[in-house]
Amino acid sequence: MRDLLPSTVAVAVAGPEDWTGDLLPAEQACLSERAVQTRRRDFAAGRNCARRALRDLGLPTAAVPAAADRAPVWPTGVVGSITHTAGYCAAAAAHTTDIRSVGMDAEQHRKINPGVRRLVLLPEEEAACARLPSDISWPVVLFSAKETIYKVWYPVVRSWLDFHDARLDIDPDAGTFTARIAPARVDAAGVDDPPASITGRFVIADGLVRTAAVLPLH
Ligand SMILES: CC(C)(COP(=O)(O)OP(=O)(O)OC[C@H]1O[C@@H](n2cnc3c(N)ncnc32)[C@H](O)[C@@H]1OP(=O)(O)O)[C@@H](O)C(=O)NCCC(=O)NCCS
Repeated sequence: MRDLLPSTVAVAVAGPEDWTGDLLPAEQACLSERAVQTRRRDFAAGRNCARRALRDLGLPTAAVPAAADRAPVWPTGVVGSITHTAGYCAAAAAHTTDIRSVGMDAEQHRKINPGVRRLVLLPEEEAACARLPSDISWPVVLFSAKETIYKVWYPVVRSWLDFHDARLDIDPDAGTFTARIAPARVDAAGVDDPPASITGRFVIADGLVRTAAVLPLH
């Protein structure tokens, strides 16, 4: 993830100890008592990475609880993002004086079935994927990129974005993507300067697809 984000964003990738690391009380309170072991491990890894990213920004230790809508609650003056998938977890954090929002996502590099593809991809995106080299599962790259877009969008606008509300153009050689948000969602956003377009980066390595994007201040 480090290479996908600007240097103003602190990035921490989970090491073995993060998956079993402690939670702060405010974080522990967000985890259901019925949470299964894998969920506990994912949540702990995310929070331990978040804490390291905050420390790298020069900030004191602070809890990162989850809001009722599941979005992480970062300390005042900080934006951030968390992702986990089997065997991988990372968190990113940045000062709001440097960027407006950050999102990132990691997925297993695998094929996705036609039903899920229809849910995630617009017909023109499906057609574009079919024209790209077949050694890569491009639909999962777009899926991950759209989840990243949602994680950038949501903290700014606080509203839902459907998978078909973002149209992605991907540049396979540059490892970049640009999402154009449906004008109806932008018009309804109800915030100053709502993001109409978000650009990010992707990498495929070690069996994973990783995507990340930031929304600059202006
Ligand atoms: C929220 C969502 C994007 C998470 O992605 P995921 O692949 O399921 O899971 P990841 O491990 O990558 O990310 C999970 C983390 O996202 C963060 N997250 C959850 N809701 C969030 C939100 N509304 N905004 C920002 N971050 C959020 C949390 O930190 C969560 O980890 P935690 O529960 O341990 O704190 C996904 O579950 C979802 O709801 N997607 C539908 C909306 C969407 O993606 N639309 C596409 C628009 S183009």
